[in-house]
Amino acid sequence: MTIAVIGTGFIGGTVGRAFARAGHATIFGSRRPAEDTVAADSGAGTAGIADAIGQADTILLALPAAAVEELLRDHGDALAGKLVIDAANNVGKPVAHHAELVTRYAPGARYARAFNTLGGENFADPNYDGTPADLFYSAPAGDRALLDELITAVGLRPMYLGDNQQDTVDGVLRLWFALAVGQGHGRNLAFHTMTR
Ligand SMILES: NC(=O)c1ccc[n+]([C@@H]2O[C@H](COP(=O)([O-])OP(=O)(O)OC[C@H]3O[C@@H](n4cnc5c(N)ncnc54)[C@H](OP(=O)(O)O)[C@@H]3O)[C@@H](O)[C@H]2O)c1
Repeated sequence: MTIAVIGTGFIGGTVGRAFARAGHATIFGSRRPAEDTVAADSGAGTAGIADAIGQADTILLALPAAAVEELLRDHGDALAGKLVIDAANNVGKPVAHHAELVTRYAPGARYARAFNTLGGENFADPNYDGTPADLFYSAPAGDRALLDELITAVGLRPMYLGDNQQDTVDGVLRLWFALAVGQGHGRNLAFHTMTR
């Protein structure tokens, strides 16, 4: 399994380096690969976006939501048979239509919604007094084991919500914003599910 991380900013960099450090073959897809230092000493590679997608079977979208449609349109054919993990948010607006965009431009691809419900500080440091925060996600059942591995690689606890549950995942995102920003609790805020 090779994962391409498209978008080499705060989220792509933090999550992609964690994948690589956990031993997953990771390649960053950058608009300026020659000067992009995002991989640092993680062991990940860096390439142009088309090259990175071509080398990977799993693609993490970590670029602005406004850039997602163009990315899918330009690279839809190359995404056939691959898993697209969508971390892109458009704060204040629903982005569940990204699943529809994947269906339109990359009908052969599978869609997962993950790495979007928490402020990136929680990807950089997922522990609260030694307890990992939960990351709620949606994916096809056949991709659950892979998502669990990737989420665990970042140090978070995976919480699977089922297939095609991106609206529910985005509800968690709205809850996070309501508490972290709306109620002023700050960005170092995460969730932990209790069961008995
Ligand atoms: N920040 C958070 O706490 C957080 C948490 C969860 C999810 N998210 C979501 O994750 C995504 C990335 O957020 P971020 O905080 O990492 O942003 P960021 O630090 O600004 O990084 C954005 C990255 O996207 C790239 N990019 C922008 N437009 C592009 C395009 N048209 N084609 C290809 N690459 C493009 C940028 O490349 P250049 O360097 O070439 O401009 C940059 O590497 C956003 O959708 C955001 O809503 C953010």
